[in-house]
Amino acid sequence: MPASHLPSPCSAQEVQLLRDGYWDRTAIVAIDDGSQRVRKISKGAASAGPWGQNNLRAEANYLATLETQLRDCFPPLLDTWDHTTTGYDMGYMDGYVDVGQIACQQLFNQDQAEAMQSYLGQRLFQQLHTPSTATPLLVENIKSTLEKAHICLQEHAQLHCLLGQIKINDVPVSSLQEQLQSIYPSPVLTRFDSSPQVRLHGDLFLENMLLPATDTSAETGVDWPRQLILIDPISVAGIGAGHPLFDLGKYESYATGELPAMRQQRLLLAGFEGTKADSLNHHYRWAIDWQDEAMQGFKHINWHSRMRELYTQQYGAVDTAMYALLQAYFAAAMVVCTQGREQQARALKMRASLQLALHS
Ligand SMILES: Nc1ncnc2c1ncn2[C@@H]1O[C@H](COP(=O)(O)OP(=O)(O)O)[C@@H](O)[C@H]1O
Ligand SMILES: [Mg+2]
Repeated sequence: MPASHLPSPCSAQEVQLLRDGYWDRTAIVAIDDGSQRVRKISKGAASAGPWGQNNLRAEANYLATLETQLRDCFPPLLDTWDHTTTGYDMGYMDGYVDVGQIACQQLFNQDQAEAMQSYLGQRLFQQLHTPSTATPLLVENIKSTLEKAHICLQEHAQLHCLLGQIKINDVPVSSLQEQLQSIYPSPVLTRFDSSPQVRLHGDLFLENMLLPATDTSAETGVDWPRQLILIDPISVAGIGAGHPLFDLGKYESYATGELPAMRQQRLLLAGFEGTKADSLNHHYRWAIDWQDEAMQGFKHINWHSRMRELYTQQYGAVDTAMYALLQAYFAAAMVVCTQGREQQARALKMRASLQLALHS
C-alpha cells in the first residue's frame, strides 16, 4: 500500500484491456516507474445499477483484510481507493492464464488436474473458510433471485411456456408457482443461513483462478498445479460469506463442463420449436453437446471429483437438496441477464433443479 500522502490511484497508462465487464473494467497499466500492474475500476454510474460499485468495494476490502497466511493465494494488493472512482491495483501475474483455458486446451493431464484440486481444496476448506459472523444473506438473496427469474419468465414471450407443468428430460416438473410456494417455507432454504457460516471465495470457478501458461516448476521449485492464484472474490450478488456449499456448488457448476457449455452454447436443446411432438406435449430437453470439440477438455479430464472428496472430508456429505437449490439459484441469476439458447438452457436448469431440491 502506498503512503497516504501519495495520490491514489497513481497516474498510469493503459497497456492492455483484460476485461470490460458489466460493472468493472480490468486492465494492465504501466505506472511512472515503468512497472506494470492490474487495475480494476468500477464503472460507477455507467454500470448496470449501483451493485457493481458496492461489490468492487467489498472485493477490495476482502483482499485488504486477508490474513498474512492467505496473501499468497491472491495477487498482491498494491493500492485501493474509494473517492471519485472505486477500485484497486494488484500485481500483474505475467505469463499466467486462467484455469478455464488450461482445462479447455487440455494442458493438464489427470494427475495435474487432481494435484490442482488437492491444493485448492486444502487452501480453501482449511484456510480461507474461517468462521464468519457476518449477517447471513443467502436465504433472502436466493428468494429475491428466484422471484426475479419468475418475473422474467412471465414477461418473456419465448420462455412463458416454461411456467406451467412441463417435462424436462423425461422428468415431470410442477409449475414454477407451485415450486416456489413449496421452497420458500421449506427447511432446505433456511439451512443456508444456519451453521456453518464461513468466509467464502464467492465466485469460485476456473476462470477466476490463474496458473502459469507453461510449466515453470523447474525455475520456481513449486509444482505447476500448486502455483494456483485466486482472483475476483465476492459473487455477482455480493456474497462473500455464507454456507461452504456455495463455493463447492459454484466450482462444480463450471468444472463439470456445464457452465462453459451454457456460456458458449455447446448445447443440445429441444422443445422450443413450437410444432414438434415434444413441444406440443410441453416436453423439453437439454444436454451438454459432448461431441463438440470445445468440450473435450472437460470430457477427458475430471476437474471436480477430488474437490468434492475434500469438501466431504471437511464438512461431511453434501446435502443434495441444498445443492440442487444452489444450482437453481445460480441458474436463476443468469436467466435474468442472458438471452437466446443460453437463457433457455438456464431456465430449464433452474426448473429441473428446483424440482430436485423439492424431492431429494
Ligand atoms: N492480477 C492479474 N494478473 C493477470 N491477469 C489478471 C489479473 N487479474 C485479472 N486478470 C485477468 O483479467 C480477467 C478479468 O479479471 P477479473 O478480476 O476476473 O474481472 P471480472 O470481475 O470482470 O470477472 C481474468 O479472468 C484474468 O484473465
Ligand atoms: Mg472474473
